[in-house]
Amino acid sequence: MNIVEIIDKKRLKKNLTKEELSFMFTGYLEGTVKDYQMSSLLMAICINGMSEEETFNLVDIFINSGDILDLSSIKGIKVDKHSTGGVGDKVSLIVGPIVASLGIPFPKMSGRGLGHTGGTIDKLESIQGFNTNLTEEEFIKQVNDIHFAITGQTKNLCPLDKVIYALRDVTATVSSIPLIATSIMSKKIAGGADKILLDVKVGDGALMKNIEDAQQLANLMKKIGEYYHREVYPIITDMNTPLGDNIGNSLEVIEAMDILQGKKGPLRDLCIEEAAQLVLMALNISEEEALLKVKDALDSGKAFDKFKEFVKYQNGDINTLEVSTQTIDVLSNKEGVLKKIKTLNLGRLSVELGAGRKRKEDIIDHKTGIVLKKHLNDYIKKGDVLCTLYVNKNITINPDNYFEIS
Ligand code: URA
Repeated sequence: MNIVEIIDKKRLKKNLTKEELSFMFTGYLEGTVKDYQMSSLLMAICINGMSEEETFNLVDIFINSGDILDLSSIKGIKVDKHSTGGVGDKVSLIVGPIVASLGIPFPKMSGRGLGHTGGTIDKLESIQGFNTNLTEEEFIKQVNDIHFAITGQTKNLCPLDKVIYALRDVTATVSSIPLIATSIMSKKIAGGADKILLDVKVGDGALMKNIEDAQQLANLMKKIGEYYHREVYPIITDMNTPLGDNIGNSLEVIEAMDILQGKKGPLRDLCIEEAAQLVLMALNISEEEALLKVKDALDSGKAFDKFKEFVKYQNGDINTLEVSTQTIDVLSNKEGVLKKIKTLNLGRLSVELGAGRKRKEDIIDHKTGIVLKKHLNDYIKKGDVLCTLYVNKNITINPDNYFEIS
């Protein structure tokens, strides 16, 4: 088989066989296919797409590039959730403790930031000492002990996803429906949960920009789940404004703790909805009962206690969370109603500030980020603070690139 001919075949919009896909992707993992050749194939896939058969074959190649976790020694129905990625999306840090505080096993394998979207593992690494590299044995023991663990992909779980994810992040090849479905579903299936909630984000700050694409991604992931006998429940949620007020790693962990301690707003509402869905899937109870349990877990402080237990169990110390002491207020240059928050641009700005990566080898600055001070439909006066930037360098920005006021 010839690498260049396979790339050219995809450039010409032809379907690749399972053997050709395996030759390229497994070859990339083994080093016989180079970064520039894989980048070129990924871009051809991004532009020309993949058939359902190609996607199913690629999922199989990804799953079999490593081990499949055997979670059978964890008692009870195991649930998991995964978001397709957004700006300020710290939902897993809130939903996980809620669900686990109700005794439901929540073994979660998470990723790093991708493009302008943040990743749970990067966020957790803002907590000093926090171990995001659990072995399979540690992961299973922790879920058996406290019902909740979050780790980066264990060493040999979908290693292909790990390398392709890092390459997609820096080659503008993130927003392809078959590549996203392959990445998420191969991890979720190899990760071993019985029931999976998929939060498909749609809007300016999401990878899916319109509802049709979001629906297509949701359907494709559901079909892949059915093929592997997993119950997959996709929901489609809005990403036309950041989730919550804080964007950036430490800032997002701080906001997750705020929600667990009673902060109200749309982020809390979404977390309640997602947690209730997981609870009803796990316990086979009605939506009303699930909602009552979830609200009680939040209001009683049980969910926050679980968060603290989880951080401590993974060697983290929440008192070490730090945000940059250098801040810049972004002021409005006009008066009117805040009509639009340009979420994608804010996500990109957070990467610029150091909260995400532009190159694979970039090191994140966990202390940087953005805190929104105004929300959609707020009335704004000239000179009002629209957001505060937490920075490690001086930067001047034009508010019109981030906020539409009229
Ligand atoms: N999350 C993933 O794990 N993979 C993607 O490709 C996008 C979001």
